[in-house]
Amino acid sequence: MRKEFHLLKNIYLSNTRGLDSIYKLLFAITFKCNLKCKICSIWKIPHRKEISVGEIEQMFKKLTNLSWLDLTGGEITLREDLVDIIGVIIHNAKNLKIFHMTTNGMNPQRIIDATNEVVKRKLNPIVSVSIDGPQQIHDRLRGEKGSYVKIVETFKALKALKKGRIYISSTISNFNYLYLDELIASLHNDIPHFSLSDLHFNFFHVSPHYYGNEKLEGQGKDKIDFKLIKKYLDLTKKGNIIKKFLEANYVKYLEKYLHGEESPFVCQAMHGSVFVDPYGEVFPCLFYNRAIGKLHEHEYDINKLLKDPQLNELKNQIENKQCPHCWAPCEAYPTILGSLKTIFGKNQVSRAPLSVEGDNKVLQPAYS
Ligand SMILES: C[S@@+](CC[C@H](N)C(=O)[O-])C[C@H]1O[C@@H](n2cnc3c(N)ncnc32)[C@H](O)[C@@H]1O
Ligand code: SF4
Ligand code: SF4
Repeated sequence: MRKEFHLLKNIYLSNTRGLDSIYKLLFAITFKCNLKCKICSIWKIPHRKEISVGEIEQMFKKLTNLSWLDLTGGEITLREDLVDIIGVIIHNAKNLKIFHMTTNGMNPQRIIDATNEVVKRKLNPIVSVSIDGPQQIHDRLRGEKGSYVKIVETFKALKALKKGRIYISSTISNFNYLYLDELIASLHNDIPHFSLSDLHFNFFHVSPHYYGNEKLEGQGKDKIDFKLIKKYLDLTKKGNIIKKFLEANYVKYLEKYLHGEESPFVCQAMHGSVFVDPYGEVFPCLFYNRAIGKLHEHEYDINKLLKDPQLNELKNQIENKQCPHCWAPCEAYPTILGSLKTIFGKNQVSRAPLSVEGDNKVLQPAYS
């Protein structure tokens, strides 16, 4: 109950007077990968020394306000110390409520062990397995024959645990949007009791510092006719009330995003959330390629780093929508939850003022 209340308080503050520390973290613990996807080039990143369990512990000790974690990669199951990482995170982030992991499903036992560790530590895990299409399309897009069979096996094994919530996440791109009917038919065929509430769609994005796919040609929001994918997106507005609310608003504003309309929301990046890469570099989000600091140079304290007055200009840029713009669930969900006044018609158009340490100025709303 205490953690739920803390999460609700953070959502409330992100809608009212503002937060003074982040409550959501998107953390890539590795850029190593065992697949070679077409839309994501993380697998091409040369290997470097990645953040250690000790460093992760130092970081999470200071994230006392954290309610929500997205753990991603690369492929998280390639970290042999994944269970230890989960252990130090949950032990130290005392207010953590949402623990979400994403996997390509190639190593069922490792993701099962990870899921069990989250449960052992008294959190309810959310696990997304990524499926990009029916068998042939998935295997082609993921660069490995047999990867569809493997991921379906992983999904079924995770479901059989009867712990947490397990979803299939499918990224729509120019490569697969004509095969969504077949994808849904395959899932019904290959997974006993498959329900559309297990399914979630995401949309192709470009990110130089994450997917490393800025040179990929033939993709983009202008390449897909929204009318053709809307019926599939609408199918996923199922499940519990929170999933329904998030999916409904995600889809509604995805349409506007794809049509090039400016978002009515103020993004939560650098306010309620940040992205940390496997080398301990902090970024506003997955898509804005502006490194804001290295953890080891800032005592592993993300909140202290974010209070540096030199970052005010970047925060203002984000608030003024002078960023690459995106509408990906990992970043859109906290923004939706921080924009309840806009969604419910109260016309909120700016973020609550944020006080900055060492500088009594208040970030001015972009417009009022
Ligand atoms: C980068 S992967 C990392 C986790 C894991 N390796 C996997 O594939 O699920 C996280 C999610 O991003 C999705 N993704 C990959 N490339 C993308 C792109 N260019 N735009 C949007 N989502 C993408 C993947 O399908 C996956 O669901
Ligand atoms: S989407 Fe996941 S599996 Fe595919 S290359 Fe990127 S990190 Fe690897
Ligand atoms: S809207 Fe801009 S700052 Fe916000 S998550 Fe997307 S790219 Fe990043």
